[in-house]
Amino acid sequence: MCGIFGAVEDAPVADLLVEGLNRLEYRGYDSAGLVTIDEGAINRVCAVGKVDELRQRLEKKRPSGNIGIAHTRWATHGAPSEENSHPHIAPGVAVVHNGIVENHAELRSALKSNGCAFTSETDSEVIPWLLARSLLSGATPARAMHELSDQLEGAYAIGVLTQQEPGVIHARRSGSPLVVATGPKGGYIASDTTALAGFAKDALLLADGDRAEIRRDGVIVYDSTGRLAHRRLVRVEGPSAAIDRCGFDHFMLKEINEQPDIASAITRHYATGDGFDDVKIDFNRLDRIRLIACGSSYYACLVARRWLAEVAGLEAEVELASEYRYAPVISHGATEIAIFVSQSGETADTLASLEKAKSLRMPTIGVVNQMFSTLARDADYALPLLAGVEVGVASTKAFLAQMLVLAHFTAHIGTIRGHRSAAARFRDGLERVAGWIAATLHNEAAIISVAEQFKNATSSLFVGRGALYPLALEGALKLKEISYIHAEGFAAGELKHGPIALIDPTMPVVALAPSGELFGKVASNVREIAARGGRIIVLGDRRAILALSDVAASALTIPACDDLIQPIIVSIPLQLLAYHVAVLRGSDVDRPRNLAKSVTVE
Ligand code: AGP
Repeated sequence: MCGIFGAVEDAPVADLLVEGLNRLEYRGYDSAGLVTIDEGAINRVCAVGKVDELRQRLEKKRPSGNIGIAHTRWATHGAPSEENSHPHIAPGVAVVHNGIVENHAELRSALKSNGCAFTSETDSEVIPWLLARSLLSGATPARAMHELSDQLEGAYAIGVLTQQEPGVIHARRSGSPLVVATGPKGGYIASDTTALAGFAKDALLLADGDRAEIRRDGVIVYDSTGRLAHRRLVRVEGPSAAIDRCGFDHFMLKEINEQPDIASAITRHYATGDGFDDVKIDFNRLDRIRLIACGSSYYACLVARRWLAEVAGLEAEVELASEYRYAPVISHGATEIAIFVSQSGETADTLASLEKAKSLRMPTIGVVNQMFSTLARDADYALPLLAGVEVGVASTKAFLAQMLVLAHFTAHIGTIRGHRSAAARFRDGLERVAGWIAATLHNEAAIISVAEQFKNATSSLFVGRGALYPLALEGALKLKEISYIHAEGFAAGELKHGPIALIDPTMPVVALAPSGELFGKVASNVREIAARGGRIIVLGDRRAILALSDVAASALTIPACDDLIQPIIVSIPLQLLAYHVAVLRGSDVDRPRNLAKSVTVE
């Protein structure tokens, strides 16, 4: 997901722009660049790779100028290169863009036939050329920015500098988030408020269609009709909350260790049911719930589906957003609601699915961490994850928070639907979760020694049953996305239907096998793997590990806990295992290759 930052102050801004980009690195990117304007000259510096590469470029050539825009690019059209880096420039104009210009091909062809000399392969480069053409035809920068909505198709957030108005940063938002702010020292734009920490106390969240003009002494926002608009102020979190590792080697490890406190905060907010008061839905009239998400958030929904059946007696369908948005609609007259689960609240497929559900007149609920996101704004109801800013691209505390909020929501629905004893049992377990997480974190030393077994692995399997099958999927995702080892999650009962052909002594197999109703079945699967020479790591409580000690090469221990709560606790050793394997293999743990923190394009 690209990052945008811009600033206009009374002093040179080049270093400030790099600082702003540093704070957006967590979004994932592969190149970075900036432009300043000084005495009419547009100065561009770009670099492939990390923001530090850009910083080193500035050491050699620091552009002057008290106004500038900057960008971290996650490549969609055109490989990472200096030519494809933003800002893109056309005569008298510089632009940074987050999103995708869907109609870029026809625009590029028309502009090229008018003599526009493109220098990149990107879709974004059509934007400065459109603006330059409007300015050349006599339009003011404001007019040229306004006209973009008639020319561009697709999602975009853009920051623009013009030589005509060297004291103004122009901005527009359509589908991709953008915030603007005024601080004691100047005016700013950013993709999200984490980049503004220390520069401004509050920020304005632009709405779709908004245009803004940011000057040293203030910001003006116009809505899509061109009228002055008053937008919601959002608080900018302090610098420490967003961008400080607080002594941990990586944000991911910091965020894993924040989980006991997050679990307590979620319980305080939701356990009595008050946290759901704003959700005006009659759960007794529901035939089913549809849960829609991507990636780890989708796995959290798979866990919730079992809880909703067991605790609330409610059927749930779980859909991958990228599939749901294009799936045929069968109108069956059932009364259902759609719940969208997302850490960022900006995932393109999830947002498109939200629009589809709303078009089908389904009540919609967002379960989301970023409460200033599009999902939080556009769903009928929004339930906060209360996990704080998650910087690590691999989701840990947000994934745990998603399961916890969905768990409390299930208990709330179960109570309303008369499943009081099941709901009460579930709530009792949820009250103890923070302590169980803390106890599991204390086993980190044992997990580090298990991680050694994966250091040179080329493939790995994760197997589980019931509500732990989604955790097998999540454990495989965590490992592959930060250690780059191929890993697959399977329902343990599926092994005999093919995957068991993969078993060999070189491939670690993690079996999620805590004591409980399905332990005997999983234990049989573990023994089938052992009989074929598999190298097994059993993840379970002490009793389960003891029962399988004759076939397990090693173990990952969790405290004995209620079956319903196990998926939540099991996620902790899976996170730590992936983390330590990635550290052993020297991966960029917080910003793994090719990945973005939020996939804002499809
Ligand atoms: C999880 O570790 C990944 N980073 C990814 O699968 C993520 O869960 C997915 O992209 C969904 O993101 P969202 O929760 O912000 O919608």
